Amino acid sequence: MESEVNNINDTQAIDVILRPTKWDEYVGQEKVKEQLKIMLEASKRRNEVCDHVLFYGQAGLGKTTLAHLVAREMGANLKITSGPSLEKVGDIAAVLTNIEQGDVLFIDEAHRLNRMNEEVLYPAMEERKLNLIVGKGPTARTIALDLPPFMLIAATTRANLLSGPLRSRFGASFKLDYYNTENIQSIIERSAKILGMKIDQKAVSIIAEASRFTPRVANRLLKRVRDYGEVYNQGEAISEEIVKETFKMLEIDTLGLEPYDRRLLEMIIDKFNGGPVGVATLAAALNDDRGNIEDVHEPFLMSIGLMIRTPSGRVATDHAYKHLGKISKKLN
Ligand SMILES: Nc1ncnc2c1ncn2[C@@H]1O[C@H](COP(=O)(O)OP(=O)(O)OP(=O)(O)O)[C@@H](O)[C@H]1O
Ligand SMILES: [Mg+2]
Repeated sequence: MESEVNNINDTQAIDVILRPTKWDEYVGQEKVKEQLKIMLEASKRRNEVCDHVLFYGQAGLGKTTLAHLVAREMGANLKITSGPSLEKVGDIAAVLTNIEQGDVLFIDEAHRLNRMNEEVLYPAMEERKLNLIVGKGPTARTIALDLPPFMLIAATTRANLLSGPLRSRFGASFKLDYYNTENIQSIIERSAKILGMKIDQKAVSIIAEASRFTPRVANRLLKRVRDYGEVYNQGEAISEEIVKETFKMLEIDTLGLEPYDRRLLEMIIDKFNGGPVGVATLAAALNDDRGNIEDVHEPFLMSIGLMIRTPSGRVATDHAYKHLGKISKKLN
């Protein structure tokens, strides 16, 4: 972490460097931070382990970062696993038996935990018991091991896919929302500083506008602009022009739409007459997985009013027609 930033080209290393490690570097999400800090402070004063918490919200909004901050605040070890990496019952049992007093266990992509693992997790969360079945057939029996106090943090982009029983076992659930432009600008400014970049205010605001209200996207765009500037601008301060040229090259428009987003909207407009069209039909027409549309693309398109979801399917709005330079059938 303390290495020379300017010598770091490895993208992942940059991600780690840009990740906030203190509460005041974690911009925005004020309500979540406030409520969470109270929970943590209260449990510290009582000398207890904090209740289990769930973080949910779109990708790149800061769930993992928050889990790291919580562990740091509690002076705890953070043990990380994820829904998809836990297959057999033995997998979650192995994770739980490795837990030590006061650890924070982070389960990412919790909506992808399978039923068997969930069932092992319930008593672990509730009574700190790990129920193991030993032996097979008629001689099989359950032994219950005591687990040390620990805090579970689960994160998911799809809270609606979590099972009811799992969801009800968290002491608190926190929804992370899209950031406002001001927040995104301060994230970009902070990142630029860490990366040793000189950048105009106007350039910062154009990047912010195209960042889909998402810190990860903001940092990713900033890095692309940095690369472009390195090559075409010889390390001079990043100007509005450089940002625009970078976005043109990446085919990102002023609203932050990428080619795929535009293709999706164009498909609704051109092939399905503006909608409504069911997401399964849309996915088939785009030769894509419906989960990708539902998880990644449509929440953002809806948040900026380019698409709406109706009971009969997805509809492109007038704003989408205008943005793509299409003539709206609704105007006729
Ligand atoms: N509130 C914030 N302030 C500053 N930077 C942030 C904030 N939230 C996220 N970031 C930056 O955005 C990046 C992505 O955040 P993070 O990995 O925590 O998102 P996530 O919600 O866990 O995403 P995913 O659902 O894809 O796992 C982080 O590396 C960090 O640099
Ligand atoms: Mg994450």
